[in-house]
Amino acid sequence: MPKILLSVCVIVLASCDFQWGIGYNQGYSPEQPIPFDHSLHVGKNQIQCQYCHNQVDRSPHSNIPALSTCMNCHNIVKTESPHIKKITEAYNKGESIAWVKVHMLPDHVKFNHSAHIAKGVNCQTCHGEIEKMTQVAQFSDLSMGWCVNCHRQPENKAPINCSTCHH
Ligand code: HEC
Ligand code: HEC
Ligand code: HEC
Ligand code: HEC
Ligand code: HEC
Repeated sequence: MPKILLSVCVIVLASCDFQWGIGYNQGYSPEQPIPFDHSLHVGKNQIQCQYCHNQVDRSPHSNIPALSTCMNCHNIVKTESPHIKKITEAYNKGESIAWVKVHMLPDHVKFNHSAHIAKGVNCQTCHGEIEKMTQVAQFSDLSMGWCVNCHRQPENKAPINCSTCHH
């Protein structure tokens, strides 16, 4: 094959790969070991996101709550439920629940929750209407284009140099 054609192929493939790389996992909604229902807790019972995800405004990562947080209520609420029994048993043994991770950026990307929360970006802008979800699903495609498009909005004054988001 002529060299020029080969390099065109390589360039096209590289850009296709880039295109195909995006949008992965949008809508991903794995079953959890305990069917934890955000719509029941946040929607119906009006528990604030930060009651459970209490590191989100202080740290790059948003923590999944420890079972002690669940037990604040479930030592008295719905104790006869088999799911709550499972939680109580694990808690008493000092074990945790192996929640399945929903959102996952590649290792070469760095994301920082607290920087976004400090600027008043809502959880829902990125995660959708979690308060209506019975099982969490990935709402945004988490592609580079998605990040950069928002950073480029003049009112956001957010950096777009590569090292902002890449190690
Ligand atoms: C009563 C505690 C509680 C409250 C309140 C709560 N969450 Fe959660 N959240 C959890 C638990 C437990 C998980 C892990 C299980 C799961 O994915 O459903 C989780 C998972 C998530 C995930 C997926 C994490 C991953 O694996 O990628 C997101 C996103 C999330 N919560 C956002 C929110 C938002 C936004 C709110 C408020 C609108 C909220 N949560 C309120 C307990 C809570
Ligand atoms: C602020 C109080 C509160 C906290 C904290 C809380 N829950 Fe709940 N949870 C409730 C209420 C209220 C209900 C609904 C009870 C009912 O249906 O009567 C409920 C229901 C549930 C149910 C459904 C039980 C069934 O069989 O119907 C599960 C499962 C559950 N919670 C898991 C969790 C987990 C896991 C955590 C910790 C990540 C947690 N909850 C934290 C208040 C809470
Ligand atoms: C600007 C977009 C954005 C906002 C705003 C945002 N998140 Fe996230 N969230 C993400 C991304 C991207 C990930 C995946 C991070 C990773 O894989 O490293 C994530 C992951 C999570 C996780 C899984 C744990 C982790 O840190 O990887 C939880 C829980 C979560 N978010 C909760 C919240 C809550 C609660 C709020 C609001 C208080 C919120 N998020 C606001 C984009 C956002
Ligand atoms: C909805 C808009 C929006 C989306 C989507 C978004 N960001 Fe941001 N980002 C912001 C804003 C606003 C700031 C705060 C800029 C500031 O502090 O001045 C910010 C700040 C950051 C910072 C901190 C920069 C610094 O040096 O202080 C990082 C890192 C970052 N974003 C990474 C990401 C990544 C990675 C994604 C995609 C996975 C993403 N962001 C998606 C709006 C967004
Ligand atoms: C605001 C955050 C942000 C900025 C700024 C950013 N990136 Fe990214 N980049 C991401 C995210 C998130 C991904 C992973 C998702 C994807 O592949 O689209 C990614 C993926 C990539 C990939 C891998 C693509 C693939 O198909 O695997 C390359 C290469 C890349 N970025 C290069 C760059 C370069 C070069 C710059 C600077 C000109 C840059 N990025 C700036 C967030 C960002």
